[in-house]
Amino acid sequence: MIPLGAGQSRRRLAAEAWRFRFQVEREAHLRFGRLAGRLAGIGASGALQALALRASEDEFRHATRCAERCLLEGGTTTGLVSPGAPEIAASALSPRQRVLYEVMAACCVTESGSMGVLSALLGAARGRGLRRVLRELAADEVGHARLGWAVLAAERGGEDVRVLGPFLPAMLAGNAGPGLYAPGTNPAEDDEALLEHGVLPRAQRRAVFEDTLEAVVFPGLEACGVSAVAGRAWLANQRAALAGT
Ligand SMILES: [Fe+2]
Ligand SMILES: [Fe+2]
Repeated sequence: MIPLGAGQSRRRLAAEAWRFRFQVEREAHLRFGRLAGRLAGIGASGALQALALRASEDEFRHATRCAERCLLEGGTTTGLVSPGAPEIAASALSPRQRVLYEVMAACCVTESGSMGVLSALLGAARGRGLRRVLRELAADEVGHARLGWAVLAAERGGEDVRVLGPFLPAMLAGNAGPGLYAPGTNPAEDDEALLEHGVLPRAQRRAVFEDTLEAVVFPGLEACGVSAVAGRAWLANQRAALAGT
C-alpha cells in the first residue's frame, strides 16, 4: 500500500472531523428542538423557549455547512446512522433536575467548548471560505451557550442546580471524548497545517478545552451555585494521567 502524503493525510483527517461535526450538529438540532418543550415544562420563560427553538434551526444550518466542508476535503457524509438525541441525564434525578442537567451539559459545557474551539480556529485560519463558515458558527454558538447560562442563572443557588455538581465529570468526559487525553499520539493529529482545514491540532485542542473550563465553565457554574470541585478534580486527574504516560 502506498503511504499517504502529508497533504492527503491532512485532508483525510479534516474530512473526518467535519463529518463528525455534521453528525454532532444534526444531533444538536434534535436536542434543542426537544429542549424547547422541556424548558416550557419547567416554567422557563417564553424568551428562553424561543432561544432553544432558534438554536435548533441554527444547528440544522450548521450541519449543512459542516457537510459542505467535509465534501470540500474529499470526504462523504453518507453511511452515518440516523441522528438521535440520547438521554444524558442521570435517571436518579427528578424530571426538573434532568432538564437542568441537559441544559448544563449541552449548553454550558458543550457550547462553551465549541466557542473556545471556534475562537482559536478564527485566530489562526486564513482561508476566506473557511473563515466565513467559522464566523457563522461562532456567532450562533455563543447564543446557545448564553441560553444555558441564562437558564442556570434563573435557578441560581437552588437545590435543583446544586445537585448537579457531582455530575460535572461525566459531562466533561462526554465532551472531551475518548481521544483527547488518550495516551500515545498520531503525529498527523499534531500537524499545525490542520488549522487551515478548520481543525485544531490535538495539543491545541486540549489547551483550548482546559482554558475554556478554567476561564468560563468552572467560574460560570460556581456563580450559579453549582460546585465545580468534582470537575476540577477530574481535569487534574486527566492532566496527571497524561503527564505520566
Ligand atoms: Fe452548531
Ligand atoms: Fe450550538
